[in-house]
Amino acid sequence: MKARILSTGSYVPEKILTNHDLEKMVDTSDEWITERTGIKERRIALPDEATSDLAYKASMKALKNVNLKAEDIDLIIVATVTPDMLVPSCACILQMKLGATNSVAFDINGACSGFIFALAVAEKFIKTGASKRALVIGAEILSRFTDWTDRTTCVLLADGAGAVILEPTKKDEGIKIIDIFSDGTMWDFIHMPAGGSKMPVTEEVIKKRLNFIKMRGNETFKVAVKTLEEIVDTTLKKGGITSSELSLLVPHQANIRIIQAMAKRLDLSMDKVMVNINKYGNTSAASIPIALDEAVDEGRVKRGDYVMLAAFGAGLTWSSALIKW
Ligand code: ACO
Repeated sequence: MKARILSTGSYVPEKILTNHDLEKMVDTSDEWITERTGIKERRIALPDEATSDLAYKASMKALKNVNLKAEDIDLIIVATVTPDMLVPSCACILQMKLGATNSVAFDINGACSGFIFALAVAEKFIKTGASKRALVIGAEILSRFTDWTDRTTCVLLADGAGAVILEPTKKDEGIKIIDIFSDGTMWDFIHMPAGGSKMPVTEEVIKKRLNFIKMRGNETFKVAVKTLEEIVDTTLKKGGITSSELSLLVPHQANIRIIQAMAKRLDLSMDKVMVNINKYGNTSAASIPIALDEAVDEGRVKRGDYVMLAAFGAGLTWSSALIKW
């Protein structure tokens, strides 16, 4: 038994924040952001929107596409580092909003690799027969944990959600290979010091701006390029196909230069790579399912195509998946 993607959905908030808007907030320029990251604009959630609201809209699109009801889902996994609140999980709040009364729901924190981590867990549920229809979501409101005075992070991070529905298949299709990895020795490359059990939020913490995401960007960049280049190669080999047989690479949208390096290593032309970082920035766990949904809507993925997903993020974590659509 394998798991196949039956449907996709996504939602991004309406509010657009452009590089020119950021020029008025911090010492940066449209030119620097575009050249160094590929980002032109990003979406920011409205004050009354929570991560589960974005996840709800992405999930509803995925359900409607295939005329399913929330009751038809038996497993909900939300990949997020920005849940509505620490307790309970974002997935349980989403379950309530959807009315998914026949499902079990929980979150996974794999940062930018979170969606592929969640997909890997859901795939095991499907393969073992423990789930017949799983809803896997990547959803983030990173803007609430962004230091809007720190130009090294605020130009990158953004909000959005994407979802897929998985079902079992006995045919030669679906998720062929899924690889997930982590190395906690580099935990401090990307982290939010305060707000957890180690450092509760106090006035002092707020004064020092420790309740926001910090990133050692350049060091992360170097590890990301090396690791992603290696992992896509390995996953292809395990899948027994060459990169020329890939129809589409859907990478995590962290930096256009990282994406280009991956494409070069795979000898893929950029028209076989899904890129929307220019419109949405880095939405962490949401970026791959948003990009996948856009690719499906644009007719860039057809049944029988080989699609590769690849991500890298805080933890450090990295992951890839080879899917026969
Ligand atoms: N505008 C203008 N100048 C800036 C900005 C900005 N927004 N940000 C940094 N700079 C400056 C720096 O201060 C530095 O100046 P200096 O040379 O005078 O010290 C210079 O630009 C170069 O800084 P670097 O950090 O070396 O720039 P780099 O080319 O590495 O780009 C970036 C930074 C975009 C963050 C890149 O390193 C990157 O994309 N890193 C990887 C991100 C990633 O993959 N993260 C994982 C997923 S994120 C997650 O899990 C939530």
